[in-house]
Amino acid sequence: MKGIILAGGSGTRLYPSTLALCKQLLPVYDKPMIYYPLSVLMLAKIREVLIISTPKDISKFETLFANGKWLGMEIDYCVQDKPEGLAQGLILAESFIDSDTICLILGDNIFYGQGLSPMLESAKQNTTEGFATIFSYHVKNPKAFGVVEMDSKGNVLSIEEKPNEPKSNYAATGLYFYDNSAIHIAKDISPSARGELEITDVNLAYLKQNRLKAQNLGRGFTWLDTGTHDSLIEAGSFVQTIELRQGYKIACLEEIALNNGWISEDIVAQRATLLSKNSYGEYLTQLLQK
Ligand code: G1P
Repeated sequence: MKGIILAGGSGTRLYPSTLALCKQLLPVYDKPMIYYPLSVLMLAKIREVLIISTPKDISKFETLFANGKWLGMEIDYCVQDKPEGLAQGLILAESFIDSDTICLILGDNIFYGQGLSPMLESAKQNTTEGFATIFSYHVKNPKAFGVVEMDSKGNVLSIEEKPNEPKSNYAATGLYFYDNSAIHIAKDISPSARGELEITDVNLAYLKQNRLKAQNLGRGFTWLDTGTHDSLIEAGSFVQTIELRQGYKIACLEEIALNNGWISEDIVAQRATLLSKNSYGEYLTQLLQK
């Protein structure tokens, strides 16, 4: 399975903060925002990842992750010239995906909660049977999201992108598992009224073909997006609260890579030295002492 992180967009809601630096590189407490979605792909044991971003920003991601070897991964980069929709990412990633299955995640989404890894594993398994999986989450204001309507058994009845009259309080989160046919589906859909190839239209195509599953992330789970100044600081405070209380870090990439058996302790030690001036580096040093 190949992983794709969508880290484009103009980030206008975060101007002037995003005039020079894109949203997905802004810090969420103690690490860049993109660490969080990358950690989800790593928890899904996906080692080959494509980061898609704007012509202006792509080199900054390369500075951050290079070829991914230090995480025991292969990280590639791809430019999206214009913000023409999330689903365009699937088309741009065609040669990278090749004949593989796909996990697509938005670069500004944070997922945190027990039991994530088994849910990722089962979504991964679904793709081998031709099914797509989306993840739903109960929110107070569904109008800001793709909205999923489900029956009592969790079967998807409808999905609508930012509807004026939402049929439920369940948002479609920015995490999607697809089989290889998603590329052809993305090529077939037309731009929406806002001129974008909508990921919701890809999911709708799967729904029409009876190949869509929804996994609900329950009330004990945390899903945050970080597209506005308020949501950004809320996410930062959330991560700070958990990390200071537990002494565990959320989305510590070196820790996950080490746990996955992808990197050696020597590499973690090198990273600890590089980052030694702060709590992230100290955390890595403590990991090695355990
Ligand atoms: C996108 C999707 C939407 C989804 C949301 C999750 O919206 O179009 O369906 O619910 O991400 O973060 P955007 O944030 O691009 O407006």
